[in-house]
Amino acid sequence: MKGPSTELIHAGEIDRNAAVPLTTPIYETTTFVFDNAAEVVAYNEGRSSKYLYSRYTNPTVVSVEQKLAAIDHAEAALTFSSGMGATATILMAHVKAGDEVICGAAIYGGTLHLLQDLLANFGVTPRFISLDEMANLERVFSDRTKLVWFESPINPTLRCIDIRRVAQACRARGVLSVIDNTFASSMNQQPLAMGIDLAMQSATKYLNGHSDVTGGMVAGPKALVAPIEKARRLLGTVMDPHPAYALGRGLQTMPLRVERHNANAMAVAKFLEGDRRVSQVYYPGLASHPDHEIAKRQMLGFGGMVCFDLDGRYDRAERVYNALQIVKRATSLGGIESLVSLPVITSQWGHTDEQLKAAGVTKGMLRLSVGLEDVADLIADLDQALGTEN
Ligand SMILES: Cc1ncc(COP(=O)(O)O)c(C=O)c1O
Repeated sequence: MKGPSTELIHAGEIDRNAAVPLTTPIYETTTFVFDNAAEVVAYNEGRSSKYLYSRYTNPTVVSVEQKLAAIDHAEAALTFSSGMGATATILMAHVKAGDEVICGAAIYGGTLHLLQDLLANFGVTPRFISLDEMANLERVFSDRTKLVWFESPINPTLRCIDIRRVAQACRARGVLSVIDNTFASSMNQQPLAMGIDLAMQSATKYLNGHSDVTGGMVAGPKALVAPIEKARRLLGTVMDPHPAYALGRGLQTMPLRVERHNANAMAVAKFLEGDRRVSQVYYPGLASHPDHEIAKRQMLGFGGMVCFDLDGRYDRAERVYNALQIVKRATSLGGIESLVSLPVITSQWGHTDEQLKAAGVTKGMLRLSVGLEDVADLIADLDQALGTEN
């Protein structure tokens, strides 16, 4: 007779082959069982499809990674504990001391600080360049340039960078090109098909789409993804199976969600553009956007992000921000709920007037992440909030 501890640990651990689930279950296990030593050796030698340890790979996580590779038409994809986990792991895998990383100046703050405050300590030189310089990379490259990191559309003005041009310039110099494709998402933009080497996203945003998972991903050719996977094992920036399950579930409705985000954002942008109280609207789908032509060439849809300006006046922006009722005041983007932020107190917090000017950001700007609510209600909410100004 076995003792109660042995029974409770081992009894009832059923034959999994008898229960075949329709959906991929959450493999809530840190480690996997082998039948004998030969199986472990086969695993070590890459001759086995078995799993060893969840920091390396886990079936729930792999299932999501295969979905992500499929939508980016990539040979391979990896997930991470966050978008920043993805960024840090990609950079640690592909750059070393002495290398220069060229980065669009209009970049997510976390990426900027990772390069400027952390990777610089490891001998990596970040070089932040303007949109104009980004369009003429050939003039910017140095002998030490290893990698170009950029976003398009950028935050919060949704200015777009010609992705094919960046890809061509990098290929010609043997420089690695990496895009943070978070704002567009895989549904609206396919950077790998345009020649970019690696496409990264914060899965926290449109990929999961429900504001309840923090995650990151990268997709690309196996030869470039393999070193990132190796680095992920060492850095431990792996995604846990539980959020991976939620992400996989979110992904299943992504095409439908993004279609609605795009349609709602276009309707909101048109409403704002037609309203005299609004001095400027930034949406890549509007003919008035400075990069509308680039966006048309490289985007499949124009996305769910809209930015608008109220004469550069913070007092006006603050009043409208505070008055919104359906649209929630919260950072982040890409979820089903519409969110609003004021760039000067979030992404551009602490910037000097000169820095704001360089980023094309004014104190009167509001950024919307347009959600999946009924668009008439969103427009009515914006209308009443704009009306509270008088
Ligand atoms: C464009 C962009 N990239 C990366 C990140 C970082 O992602 P995460 O918060 O999942 O680490 C964010 C987060 O807001 C983002 O907006």
